Amino acid sequence: MLLCWLQLFMPIATLNMVRLDRRQRESLQTQLYRQIRRLIMSGQLTAGVRLPSTRDLVTHLGISRNTIVYAFDQLVAEGYLESHVGSGIYVSDLDLKQTEQRSQTSSLAKSSAAPRTSRRAQRFSTGRISPDYPTSKVRPFRPCQPAIDHFPIRAWNRARSHALRLQSKELMLEANAAGSPRLRRALSIYLRDARGVRCHADQIVITAGAQQALSLIGTTLLDRGDPVWIEDPGYLGARAALLRAGANLIPIPTDDEGLTIPSLRHGRRPRLIYTTPSRQFPLGTTMTLPRRLAVMEFTRKSGAWVIEDDYDSEFRYVGRPVPSLQGLASGERVIYVGSFSKVLFASLRLGYLVVPDHLVDVFRKAKEIHDGSSSAIDQATAAVFIEEGFFAAHVRRMRKLYKARLDGFLCEAKKYLSGFLTFPTIEAGMDAMGRLPADADDTAVSRRLRAEGIDVPPLSAYALTPCTPGLLFGFTAFSSSETRSAMQKVSRCLTNK
Ligand SMILES: Cc1ncc(COP(=O)(O)O)c(C=O)c1O
Repeated sequence: MLLCWLQLFMPIATLNMVRLDRRQRESLQTQLYRQIRRLIMSGQLTAGVRLPSTRDLVTHLGISRNTIVYAFDQLVAEGYLESHVGSGIYVSDLDLKQTEQRSQTSSLAKSSAAPRTSRRAQRFSTGRISPDYPTSKVRPFRPCQPAIDHFPIRAWNRARSHALRLQSKELMLEANAAGSPRLRRALSIYLRDARGVRCHADQIVITAGAQQALSLIGTTLLDRGDPVWIEDPGYLGARAALLRAGANLIPIPTDDEGLTIPSLRHGRRPRLIYTTPSRQFPLGTTMTLPRRLAVMEFTRKSGAWVIEDDYDSEFRYVGRPVPSLQGLASGERVIYVGSFSKVLFASLRLGYLVVPDHLVDVFRKAKEIHDGSSSAIDQATAAVFIEEGFFAAHVRRMRKLYKARLDGFLCEAKKYLSGFLTFPTIEAGMDAMGRLPADADDTAVSRRLRAEGIDVPPLSAYALTPCTPGLLFGFTAFSSSETRSAMQKVSRCLTNK
């Protein structure tokens, strides 16, 4: 360590505080700049004090003159120091009334005068979007993660270049709030053919992922205090978005057939119902046809809207994908939400809404007020990617890969986790809910596993009411060897209790 004491014109006690350390990531010039600035801001270097000459500092600090000159120039440029030609460098006479110095010491600044956030913002902390993960690295068995190693990045880049070549000027102009007409057209065909959604391109509003779609629904369809039925356990992102819109959330249990429909005798009619019929998140059940019909009948009688969150329906491994609820209901009372996060990649932040004709304008307006429009270049790229057949080919390849990974996962789970965790039959999706013995504390088990490098959120994290314990395992992003060694780790951890 290069430890230095400046002893020229600055008081010795103050000079002793300047410590430069070559091992730090921060450059020496930045360290010197920051430390002198802090001494000034804290009042330890007062106005008019003359700083040592750069030549003297070179000798005393053992660093280059350029380093010192850079730090001083920066402090002069920001007004902390003044350079007097022929005389030297001095601490400026600053009005420190509104500086850190005062704000740190003054109790007044910490009093009620401190700015407060809105009441709505104070509720954000109760609206987590996902379980806490200790690192952004995707560790086994983090749920809902596409296999990005297998993403056809070359084809994506070619689609992007193609879009830019054809539409370079249009893509730089302010974009349509509802989204690129070309992408909406491509999506309307895909949704009709693959998901049985009844729509035309004008009913689609492109959003920044499903998350923004859910927020826009909340803003557009809810008034403060409106009752909203939400699947319990259910998706945290939906819960957060609807809470933020002022919803009065009413947890509704799900059973083997999907969302249940409680009697209305003792409760208020819901204004909105949130459901994941293709594959209930996080339990994985698919809503049966009788239940779908019952939900539609209920909405017809009660006047409620339904949000159909169809987040990962492309990945069905047995039979054909189940057509959407929206198609069954001829789209009258259903707001359909889709996302590219699972089927392409999450950072793309592209999702979409399919809304009934008479709501198109209000949703378009809501999107415009929210953030103008989604990235024109990404939308154009996605449109080319779909039109050129890369999207369909990627879905097919991933379906095959995920099915193989699911089989491998279940095989290893049988070998290593029997007796600790029970997995149901899994026919679709990107994750598997493992049930723990009824007396287990899933939060504690999840925390123990997390310390071992395994990310499996507890089922209770998704529930608003008490539930049987479970752990949610994602299987799509991990190779067979990663799955095996992680599974061994889980087994060791569970055996050692
Ligand atoms: C149920 C559900 N809906 C939607 C999404 C996708 O959200 P987004 O498009 O905002 O990434 C997820 C992501 O995990 C999800 O689990």
